[in-house]
Amino acid sequence: MKAIILAGGSGTRLYPVTMTVNKHFLPIYNKPMIYYPLSLVMLLGIKNVLFIVNPTDLETFKRLFRDGSHLGMNIKYRIQEKPNGLAEGLILAEDFIGNDNICYLLGDNIFYGHDLVKIMAEAKKEIEEKGGAYVFGYYVKDPERFGVVEFDEKGNVKSIEEKPKKPKSNYAVVGMYFYDNEAIEIAKRVKPSDRGELEITSVNEEYLRRGKLKVKLLGRGFAWFDAGTHDSFLEAGEFVATIEKKTGLMIGCIEEIAYRNGWIDREQLLELAKPLAKTDYGKYLLELANSE
Ligand code: TTP
Repeated sequence: MKAIILAGGSGTRLYPVTMTVNKHFLPIYNKPMIYYPLSLVMLLGIKNVLFIVNPTDLETFKRLFRDGSHLGMNIKYRIQEKPNGLAEGLILAEDFIGNDNICYLLGDNIFYGHDLVKIMAEAKKEIEEKGGAYVFGYYVKDPERFGVVEFDEKGNVKSIEEKPKKPKSNYAVVGMYFYDNEAIEIAKRVKPSDRGELEITSVNEEYLRRGKLKVKLLGRGFAWFDAGTHDSFLEAGEFVATIEKKTGLMIGCIEEIAYRNGWIDREQLLELAKPLAKTDYGKYLLELANSE
C-alpha cells in the first residue's frame, strides 16, 4: 500500500493567515500540521508517500521533507495546479500508485485515540485482502460541514452525501480513506459538483453503488479535528498540548516514529536532533536516542 496526503487546497477558512502561508505548515502546538497525517502513515508502516501540493508551496514542502530518506522513507510530491477537489489527488497520483492499494489522507485532519493504529491496520488489511473502499464515520454536532453517511436499521450504509443542507445523520466521514486500485478509474469518471469540485464523496458513493464501501464508526474514545477553521485549529493545538504535557510523550513526532520503526538508527536520530537541540522537541529526540 502507498499513501497520498492531500496538502494543497485554498485554505480560505483560515484567511487572512493562509493568504500567504499554506495551512499545513502552521503549528498544531509544537509541530507543523502536516506532521500529524504523515505520522499516521508511518505508524501504519507505509514508506512510500506522495504529497499533493500547490505550485507555490512545492519548494517549502521539499525543504521540510526532502526525499524522505532521512526518515528512512521515500517521499514524492505532485503539483495540483488548482484546488479542483479532493478526488483529483487520486488522478494526479496515478503513476505513483501503479498497481498498489491506497491510503488517502487529508493534510489538515488530526486523529488521536487508543487503538487508532490497530483500527487503521485492520482497514489496510481488509483492502489488501478483499479490495473495495474503507472509510470512517465520526459523530459530530455539525454534520452539514462534511460528507455525511446514513445507515439503515441493520447498520448498513444507506447513503453518503457531501455537505447536505439537511443531513440524514450526525456521522461525518473523516479525512482518512483506504481504497483499492479501482479508485483511480472511479475518480477519473467523477463529474464536478455544483461547487465545481471533484468530490471524494462521489468516489465513495460509487463504491457504495457497487456494494464495496465499508464504513467503520470511530467511537467517543477518539478525537478527530478538521483543523481548517480557526476554532478547530486552536482546539487541535490545545488538545495536543494537553496530552503531551500530561504524558510526556509526543503526538505526531515523525523522527521518533522513524526511529521506533527501525527505519533510522541512533546516529541518524542524533543527527536529526542536532539543529533542534535548543528546543523541547530536540531535547525529546535526544532523550529518546539516549534512553535505550
Ligand atoms: P478543505 O479543508 O476541504 O479545503 P481547503 O484546504 O481548500 O480549505 P477551505 O475550505 O478553507 O478553502 O481541504 C481538505 C484537505 O485537502 C486540506 O488539507 C487541503 C487539501 N486539498 C487539496 O489538497 N486539494 C484540493 O483541491 C482541496 C479542495 C483540498
